[in-house]
Amino acid sequence: MPFPEKFIDELVDRNDIVDVVSGYVRLSKRSGANQFGLCPFHSEKTPSFSVNQEKQIYHCFGCGKGGSVINFIMEIENLGYRDAVAFLARRAGMAMPQEQEDAESRKRARMLALNKDAARFFYEQLSTPGGSRARDYMARRRISPATAKNFGLGFAPDTWDSLEKAMRQKGYSDFELADAGLVRRGKNGGFYDTFRDRLMFPVIDVRGSVIGFSGRILGDGEPKYMNSPETLVFNKSRNLFALNLAKKSKSGYILLSEGNIDVVSLHQAGFDSAVASLGTSLTPEQARLLSRYTDQVIIAYDNDGAGIKASQRAIGILEKLDVKVKVLRLEGAKDPDEFIKARGPEAFRKLLEGSESQADYRLRNVTGKYDLTQDEQKVEFLKEASDLVARLPGAVERQVYAMRVAAMAGVPNDVVADEVERRRKRLVRSAVRAEAREQERPERQSQPNERELRYDDPVSARAEEGVIRLLSLDPELGKQPGMPPPEDFSSEALGHIYAVLLERIRRHLSVSSANLGEELSAPEMSLLVRIQQAPVSLQQGRRALEDYINCIREHKEQRDQKNAPLDLLALAERQREKGKRYTENG
Ligand code: UTP
Ligand code: MN
Repeated sequence: MPFPEKFIDELVDRNDIVDVVSGYVRLSKRSGANQFGLCPFHSEKTPSFSVNQEKQIYHCFGCGKGGSVINFIMEIENLGYRDAVAFLARRAGMAMPQEQEDAESRKRARMLALNKDAARFFYEQLSTPGGSRARDYMARRRISPATAKNFGLGFAPDTWDSLEKAMRQKGYSDFELADAGLVRRGKNGGFYDTFRDRLMFPVIDVRGSVIGFSGRILGDGEPKYMNSPETLVFNKSRNLFALNLAKKSKSGYILLSEGNIDVVSLHQAGFDSAVASLGTSLTPEQARLLSRYTDQVIIAYDNDGAGIKASQRAIGILEKLDVKVKVLRLEGAKDPDEFIKARGPEAFRKLLEGSESQADYRLRNVTGKYDLTQDEQKVEFLKEASDLVARLPGAVERQVYAMRVAAMAGVPNDVVADEVERRRKRLVRSAVRAEAREQERPERQSQPNERELRYDDPVSARAEEGVIRLLSLDPELGKQPGMPPPEDFSSEALGHIYAVLLERIRRHLSVSSANLGEELSAPEMSLLVRIQQAPVSLQQGRRALEDYINCIREHKEQRDQKNAPLDLLALAERQREKGKRYTENG
């Protein structure tokens, strides 16, 4: 049985690598994020053994050994993986996992049960006489009883302890209620309900569990919303309101809005793929979650300064994940709820059909900056717009937008097309140069310095390293279709590391190096750590991944061809083809 990753994470947290290593090695020199000392694993006079506190790894530039704090203890105390873990657990005064895990999963299950009971309680309050205030409020906001039921909306009564009493009766303790954020502790030591006199929105995760609540005041007042605090089961930045419903939508896109009320109103009007980001601006985790369910997001944020800013941020985050983004222009309304109430679902559908792609949106922002009747400004516009178009990934897309820019500025198409092509070439050249510089870095020599390992095909191996680096940084990439099988890797060690990563990703396990210690050999671990140390930008993650994969494939084919018995027929055929081309060209 592998250790639960939470346990390993905590173990690593509580055994800071600098502390642990300092027990064996005097770390003195410091350069950037690294601290250096004399390597305990080989003899040397100048320190080449580095410890990176931020990444919690060590790496010796001399002998190539490296890994997490667990590998360090394995190596220096000469222990196996499990014994090294026990050693560090004892050092940090931690209980070993089995007992800990059982307790935690019991607690989690119990909290979910409590949340579900609380949601049911709130829902039932809606139909009591005391619930009339909430019913009136919903009627004012035109939320139908069917919609309320669909979302499991509820009412938290205007008392100090109705929920507390009801849940106590069901056998939950005040401490459990407090842990779930449903009650708070008063000055006199008693407990009182967190949510009072509010319209309750349960937050339900994609598995259908109630993980928290959002409560809106009935009418005006502060704070407008109260939300569950972070708990064992609730993490605002990793969940989206209504994704449990939106994930079932057949619309092919997800509508991202700001407010709970907007989402409810959109679903009620038939737009069943609306979600909201729980009062934060879209986080990278939320974006990754979205990208699991859709490849197209339409942003319908509020029509104000904050909404525009939030849209721009969200575009950036989603783009990195290769999600297509469009932005809705809500003219004459402050948010989707108001728009639908004022103009109706049909008008909203029209808006959706005409929603702008992010390229349109950006182009419009650029256009807005210049007065195109002035020649000088027109030139500036052409520069900036061409640059924008040059950065678009697809050739067709570039062509279409180049034509549009030309039309806007009233110049011939090929003027813009040429300018775009020139800029594109420059971008590609500087990307290639950056890549070349990267390759020349001392820690990126083409052979691994782990002595046991050698690359037979350094070019393919570099691409294989690239795949591993990207997967370590963004495991979601490993779920893409078309990932090559580990056998296609030219290096056995890299193939094995890759296979281990893929398998862990498939099982939703962590790929942090501390968690891999059991499955990888020491040289493989050192190699992985060195690979992970190279800087990388995720900006072009998917495209870089594709390039790496293509390179691996091509090299694999070449190797296969070399090893295959010579196929004389095919050779003759190729020769003939060559000859033909030659004569055709004159
Ligand atoms: P809004 O103020 O736009 O709320 O905040 P809304 O849901 O659209 O409600 P109406 O239509 O104005 O009545 C957007 C989201 O920000 C979070 C909530 O999740 C809300 O849905 N928020 C807002 C908070 O968490 N706390 C607040 O005090 C206000
Ligand atoms: Mn709003």
